[in-house]
Amino acid sequence: MRHFFRVPLAILLLALSITCSHAFRKYRQPEIKSAVFLSPKFELDPGSVVNRNYYYIEFPRGHIAIKGFNAEVVDEAGHPVPLHETYLHHWVLGRFHQRLNATNPEQDYILVRNSGICQKQVVYQYYGLGSETRGTNTDVPDPFGIEVGNPVDIPVGYEEAWFLKVHAIDTREVEDKLGCTECRCELYNVTKDEKGQPLRPDYKGGLSCCYDHTQCRLREDSVGATRNLYMRYTVKWLDWNEFIVPVKIYILDVTDTWKRLANSTGQNSEHECHVEYDIESCSASGKADNGCTDSKRASLAMPTGGYLAYGVAHQHSGGLGSALYGEDGRLLCSSMPTYGKGKEAGNEAGYIVGMSTCYPKPGTVKINDGETMIVESNYSSTQSHTGVMGLFYILVAEHLPKPVLSRRLPFAKPVNSKV
Ligand SMILES: *[C@@H]1O[C@H](CO)[C@@H](O)[C@H](O)[C@H]1NC(C)=O
Ligand SMILES: *[C@@H]1O[C@H](CO)[C@@H](O)[C@H](O)[C@H]1NC(C)=O
Ligand SMILES: *[C@@H]1O[C@H](CO)[C@@H](O)[C@H](O)[C@H]1NC(C)=O
Ligand SMILES: *[C@@H]1O[C@H](CO)[C@@H](O)[C@H](O)[C@H]1NC(C)=O
Repeated sequence: MRHFFRVPLAILLLALSITCSHAFRKYRQPEIKSAVFLSPKFELDPGSVVNRNYYYIEFPRGHIAIKGFNAEVVDEAGHPVPLHETYLHHWVLGRFHQRLNATNPEQDYILVRNSGICQKQVVYQYYGLGSETRGTNTDVPDPFGIEVGNPVDIPVGYEEAWFLKVHAIDTREVEDKLGCTECRCELYNVTKDEKGQPLRPDYKGGLSCCYDHTQCRLREDSVGATRNLYMRYTVKWLDWNEFIVPVKIYILDVTDTWKRLANSTGQNSEHECHVEYDIESCSASGKADNGCTDSKRASLAMPTGGYLAYGVAHQHSGGLGSALYGEDGRLLCSSMPTYGKGKEAGNEAGYIVGMSTCYPKPGTVKINDGETMIVESNYSSTQSHTGVMGLFYILVAEHLPKPVLSRRLPFAKPVNSKV
């Protein structure tokens, strides 16, 4: 095979060098790098739950632009595991600065959250998805990138590192698969949260009932077999260069109770995101006339605006789609779920296996500074649901490349530098 390529390559190089001498201004993008890693192993028995942070995961080092990140659950042979066996409730990629030589690494670190806009340590992630992970495009479009690892942003005496949080529920041999994935407290026989605090009597389901080491109710005939699993994650990146346009990450939550006050600045501290909410069935609520759609909305101001580079929503089973509107009602992005139709991993019937994404042409979708946006999340209410989510993840560029640069193609490197 090998020497087949030799002659054509020589001709190609010659052709390139001729082109370059004539067209000094032709630029070409560096190739996006990509690497696949495995998380530490986790063990799941039928009905059991893992909800853990894996610190110091393998990740590209140095000053880079993240161009994509995705993850899925695989077994020991590396085969993708379908959602009806291991339900991936969510995974989250978090960034932190760790003090060098810390005596207690689990405490001596600074979380580096995204740009907002929920309060403090709520939805702080750089990336995060759930069951939809296999069918959702996470690529950051050119000329944009998520800038990380810049030495000037890392405090002296610290290093930058990453953690992956994995929340997975083994639903083999359980009595009620949907109930286990929606973390219904009664199925987990849970009356106290992870910290030992009693749950509110009206709390029927959600993350407070399916924490690490909890157990969902099994069928009578369950035999149980422990399984070793991993998260397999793919990182795409570019070494940082001056032609990459940085984007900020914002996550808007439909459960956020933020209200504009006269002196409001719209900063994180004013927000109260609950992340989860429940859907009452339309027969119970007597609201069958709206076609049994639960439509929830929140108005949220963006502290600073910019150009939308990418958008995607996160919903759970029952989700019918989500949208983001500007203050004047214009549609900024909508993200719709795809449900699986079969059994195999990536196409599991009844589960959301992908969310559509928005890639507006750079510069065409603008969010103004301080603009109040509306996030909308629709669910089917033909049956009740607990612990659903309505998050909208967006990448926003505060500046665009200068026109002359964008015409020349932003990831500039003269072609002749390689030849
Ligand atoms: C951490 O420890 C190493 C080796 O023990 C030492 O060389 C280094 O100076 C220490 N760094 C800090 C910031 O204390
Ligand atoms: C549920 O929990 C209670 C108290 O923690 C325990 O006594 C009971 O046996 C549990 N029920 C099941 C079905 O595991
Ligand atoms: C806004 O004003 C109210 C009443 O004067 C005050 O209690 C509150 O702390 C102020 N909020 C901010 C964000 O400054
Ligand atoms: C959500 O539902 C409302 C009411 O049925 C509808 O007007 C809106 O277009 C829906 N939004 C999306 C994103 O599907």
